[in-house]
Amino acid sequence: MALLDHATQAARRAVPLPPPDALQARFEPMTAARLDAVLAIEQSAYSHPWTRRNLTDSLAAGHLAQCLLGGDELLGYLIAMPGYREMHLLNITVAPAHQRQGWARLMLDALVLWSRTLRADWLWLEVRASNARAQQVYLRRGFSRVGLRKGYYPLRHGAREDAVVMSLPLDYE
Ligand SMILES: CC(C)(COP(=O)(O)OP(=O)(O)OC[C@H]1O[C@@H](n2cnc3c(N)ncnc32)[C@H](O)[C@@H]1OP(=O)(O)O)[C@@H](O)C(=O)NCCC(=O)NCCS
Repeated sequence: MALLDHATQAARRAVPLPPPDALQARFEPMTAARLDAVLAIEQSAYSHPWTRRNLTDSLAAGHLAQCLLGGDELLGYLIAMPGYREMHLLNITVAPAHQRQGWARLMLDALVLWSRTLRADWLWLEVRASNARAQQVYLRRGFSRVGLRKGYYPLRHGAREDAVVMSLPLDYE
Protein backbone atom coordinates (compact mmCIF):
# COMPACT_ATOMS: atom_id res chain seq x y z
CA MET A 1 0.00 0.00 0.00
CA ALA A 2 2.77 2.39 0.96
CA LEU A 3 4.59 1.44 -2.24
CA LEU A 4 1.48 2.10 -4.31
CA ASP A 5 1.03 5.49 -2.66
CA HIS A 6 4.65 6.27 -3.40
CA ALA A 7 4.25 5.24 -7.06
CA THR A 8 1.04 7.28 -7.39
CA GLN A 9 2.70 10.32 -5.91
CA ALA A 10 5.69 9.92 -8.25
CA ALA A 11 3.36 9.70 -11.27
CA ARG A 12 1.54 12.86 -10.14
CA ARG A 13 4.86 14.68 -9.82
CA ALA A 14 5.88 13.57 -13.31
CA VAL A 15 2.66 14.83 -14.95
CA PRO A 16 1.26 17.72 -12.93
CA LEU A 17 -2.48 18.25 -12.89
CA PRO A 18 -3.75 21.00 -15.20
CA PRO A 19 -4.52 24.34 -13.58
CA PRO A 20 -7.89 24.24 -11.79
CA ASP A 21 -9.43 26.75 -14.22
CA ALA A 22 -7.97 25.08 -17.35
CA LEU A 23 -11.45 24.35 -18.74
CA GLN A 24 -12.20 28.06 -18.82
CA ALA A 25 -8.99 28.90 -20.69
CA ARG A 26 -8.79 29.03 -24.48
CA PHE A 27 -6.32 29.67 -27.27
CA GLU A 28 -6.78 32.42 -29.82
CA PRO A 29 -4.41 33.44 -32.59
CA MET A 30 -2.13 36.35 -31.75
CA THR A 31 -3.29 39.32 -33.83
CA ALA A 32 -2.13 42.94 -34.07
CA ALA A 33 -4.98 43.89 -31.70
CA ARG A 34 -3.37 41.84 -28.92
CA LEU A 35 0.17 43.19 -29.26
CA ASP A 36 -0.15 45.86 -26.55
CA ALA A 37 -1.09 43.19 -24.00
CA VAL A 38 1.65 40.85 -25.27
CA LEU A 39 4.26 43.63 -25.06
CA ALA A 40 3.21 44.48 -21.50
CA ILE A 41 3.88 40.86 -20.48
CA GLU A 42 7.14 40.73 -22.47
CA GLN A 43 8.42 43.79 -20.63
CA SER A 44 7.45 42.43 -17.23
CA ALA A 45 8.85 38.93 -17.84
CA TYR A 46 12.25 39.46 -19.55
CA SER A 47 15.44 41.46 -19.12
CA HIS A 48 15.64 41.61 -22.93
CA PRO A 49 12.02 41.54 -24.15
CA TRP A 50 10.93 41.17 -27.75
CA THR A 51 10.09 44.50 -29.38
CA ARG A 52 6.84 45.32 -31.20
CA ARG A 53 8.88 44.98 -34.41
CA ASN A 54 10.01 41.45 -33.44
CA LEU A 55 6.37 40.50 -32.87
CA THR A 56 4.99 42.06 -36.06
CA ASP A 57 7.82 40.44 -38.08
CA SER A 58 6.87 37.07 -36.58
CA LEU A 59 3.18 37.54 -37.43
CA ALA A 60 4.07 38.69 -40.95
CA ALA A 61 6.30 35.62 -41.39
CA GLY A 62 3.31 33.39 -40.62
CA HIS A 63 4.75 31.87 -37.46
CA LEU A 64 2.45 29.89 -35.21
CA ALA A 65 1.49 32.57 -32.66
CA GLN A 66 -1.15 31.72 -30.07
CA CYS A 67 -2.47 33.56 -27.04
CA LEU A 68 -3.78 31.73 -23.99
CA LEU A 69 -6.75 33.60 -22.53
CA GLY A 70 -8.73 33.29 -19.33
CA GLY A 71 -11.86 35.38 -19.94
CA ASP A 72 -10.52 38.65 -21.33
CA GLU A 73 -7.19 38.30 -19.58
CA LEU A 74 -4.03 37.30 -21.42
CA LEU A 75 -2.42 34.51 -19.36
CA GLY A 76 0.45 33.79 -21.75
CA TYR A 77 1.44 33.13 -25.34
CA LEU A 78 3.77 31.18 -27.54
CA ILE A 79 5.38 31.77 -30.91
CA ALA A 80 6.89 28.93 -32.93
CA MET A 81 8.36 28.63 -36.40
CA PRO A 82 7.42 25.55 -38.44
CA GLY A 83 10.25 24.17 -40.56
CA TYR A 84 10.82 21.05 -42.60
CA ARG A 85 9.57 18.26 -40.27
CA GLU A 86 10.47 20.35 -37.23
CA MET A 87 9.06 23.08 -35.03
CA HIS A 88 11.26 25.75 -33.43
CA LEU A 89 9.80 27.33 -30.29
CA LEU A 90 10.82 31.00 -30.38
CA ASN A 91 8.94 32.43 -27.41
CA ILE A 92 6.83 31.04 -24.57
CA THR A 93 5.81 33.36 -21.77
CA VAL A 94 3.36 33.26 -18.89
CA ALA A 95 2.28 36.54 -17.24
CA PRO A 96 4.14 36.82 -13.91
CA ALA A 97 0.87 36.84 -11.91
CA HIS A 98 -0.10 33.49 -13.44
CA GLN A 99 3.19 31.61 -13.27
CA ARG A 100 3.61 28.29 -11.41
CA GLN A 101 0.05 27.19 -12.07
CA GLY A 102 0.73 24.83 -14.98
CA TRP A 103 0.03 27.21 -17.89
CA ALA A 104 3.42 26.74 -19.57
CA ARG A 105 2.95 22.99 -19.36
CA LEU A 106 -0.50 23.33 -20.96
CA MET A 107 0.95 25.51 -23.78
CA LEU A 108 3.77 23.00 -24.38
CA ASP A 109 1.23 20.17 -24.58
CA ALA A 110 -0.77 22.19 -27.14
CA LEU A 111 2.41 22.92 -29.11
CA VAL A 112 3.19 19.21 -29.24
CA LEU A 113 -0.31 18.56 -30.69
CA TRP A 114 0.00 21.34 -33.29
CA SER A 115 3.51 20.12 -34.22
CA ARG A 116 2.22 16.56 -34.70
CA THR A 117 -0.59 17.91 -36.89
CA LEU A 118 2.14 19.38 -39.11
CA ARG A 119 3.99 16.02 -39.00
CA ALA A 120 7.03 17.51 -37.30
CA ASP A 121 9.57 14.93 -36.14
CA TRP A 122 10.96 17.09 -33.40
CA LEU A 123 10.56 20.28 -31.45
CA TRP A 124 13.51 22.39 -30.45
CA LEU A 125 14.29 25.64 -28.66
CA GLU A 126 17.06 27.78 -27.20
CA VAL A 127 16.99 29.00 -23.61
CA ARG A 128 19.38 31.23 -21.68
CA ALA A 129 21.92 29.17 -19.73
CA SER A 130 20.96 31.17 -16.60
CA ASN A 131 17.22 30.44 -17.02
CA ALA A 132 17.11 27.35 -14.81
CA ARG A 133 13.37 27.78 -14.22
CA ALA A 134 12.43 27.49 -17.90
CA GLN A 135 14.91 24.64 -18.43
CA GLN A 136 13.25 22.76 -15.57
CA VAL A 137 9.81 23.19 -17.17
CA TYR A 138 11.17 21.88 -20.50
CA LEU A 139 12.96 18.93 -18.86
CA ARG A 140 9.75 17.96 -17.08
CA ARG A 141 7.91 18.01 -20.42
CA GLY A 142 10.47 15.58 -21.84
CA PHE A 143 12.95 17.88 -23.60
CA SER A 144 16.67 17.05 -23.40
CA ARG A 145 19.65 19.37 -23.45
CA VAL A 146 21.37 18.70 -26.77
CA GLY A 147 23.82 21.55 -27.26
CA LEU A 148 25.16 24.96 -26.41
CA ARG A 149 25.34 28.11 -28.55
CA LYS A 150 28.18 30.26 -27.27
CA GLY A 151 27.35 33.94 -26.67
CA TYR A 152 23.94 33.63 -28.33
CA TYR A 153 22.05 36.12 -26.15
CA PRO A 154 22.83 39.74 -25.26
CA LEU A 155 23.48 40.63 -21.63
CA ARG A 156 23.95 44.07 -20.07
CA HIS A 157 27.04 46.19 -20.93
CA GLY A 158 27.73 44.40 -24.20
CA ALA A 159 28.37 41.01 -22.57
CA ARG A 160 26.86 37.83 -24.04
CA GLU A 161 25.28 34.71 -22.57
CA ASP A 162 25.25 31.14 -23.91
CA ALA A 163 22.06 29.43 -25.08
CA VAL A 164 21.24 25.87 -24.13
CA VAL A 165 19.66 24.04 -27.08
CA MET A 166 16.92 21.62 -26.09
CA SER A 167 14.89 19.22 -28.20
CA LEU A 168 11.95 16.85 -27.94
CA PRO A 169 11.47 14.01 -30.45
CA LEU A 170 7.87 13.51 -31.57
CA ASP A 171 7.14 9.84 -32.11
CA TYR A 172 4.40 8.47 -34.35
CA GLU A 173 2.82 5.02 -34.10
C1 LIG B 1 9.32 29.69 -17.83
C2 LIG B 1 7.82 29.96 -17.75
C3 LIG B 1 7.25 30.04 -19.16
C4 LIG B 1 7.14 28.83 -16.97
O1 LIG B 1 5.75 29.12 -16.92
P1 LIG B 1 4.80 28.56 -15.75
O2 LIG B 1 3.40 28.70 -16.22
O3 LIG B 1 5.19 29.20 -14.48
O4 LIG B 1 5.23 27.03 -15.73
P2 LIG B 1 4.31 25.84 -15.14
O5 LIG B 1 3.43 26.39 -14.08
O6 LIG B 1 3.67 25.12 -16.27
O7 LIG B 1 5.40 24.93 -14.50
C5 LIG B 1 6.17 25.52 -13.47
C6 LIG B 1 5.96 24.83 -12.17
O8 LIG B 1 4.61 24.76 -11.79
C7 LIG B 1 4.30 23.41 -11.46
N1 LIG B 1 2.91 23.14 -11.78
C8 LIG B 1 2.45 22.59 -12.90
N2 LIG B 1 1.12 22.44 -12.83
C9 LIG B 1 0.74 22.94 -11.67
C10 LIG B 1 -0.52 23.10 -11.03
N3 LIG B 1 -1.66 22.68 -11.61
N4 LIG B 1 -0.54 23.71 -9.84
C11 LIG B 1 0.61 24.11 -9.26
N5 LIG B 1 1.82 23.99 -9.81
C12 LIG B 1 1.88 23.41 -11.00
C13 LIG B 1 5.22 22.63 -12.32
O9 LIG B 1 5.39 21.30 -11.84
C14 LIG B 1 6.47 23.42 -12.19
O10 LIG B 1 7.05 23.19 -10.93
P3 LIG B 1 8.59 23.39 -10.71
O11 LIG B 1 8.96 24.78 -11.21
O12 LIG B 1 8.77 23.27 -9.24
O13 LIG B 1 9.26 22.34 -11.52
C15 LIG B 1 7.52 31.28 -16.97
O14 LIG B 1 8.22 31.22 -15.75
C16 LIG B 1 7.88 32.52 -17.73
O15 LIG B 1 7.10 33.02 -18.54
N6 LIG B 1 9.11 33.05 -17.43
C17 LIG B 1 9.59 34.25 -18.08
C18 LIG B 1 9.79 34.06 -19.54
C19 LIG B 1 10.69 32.89 -19.85
O16 LIG B 1 11.73 32.67 -19.23
N7 LIG B 1 10.29 32.13 -20.91
C20 LIG B 1 11.05 31.02 -21.41
C21 LIG B 1 12.10 31.53 -22.35
S1 LIG B 1 13.03 30.21 -23.05
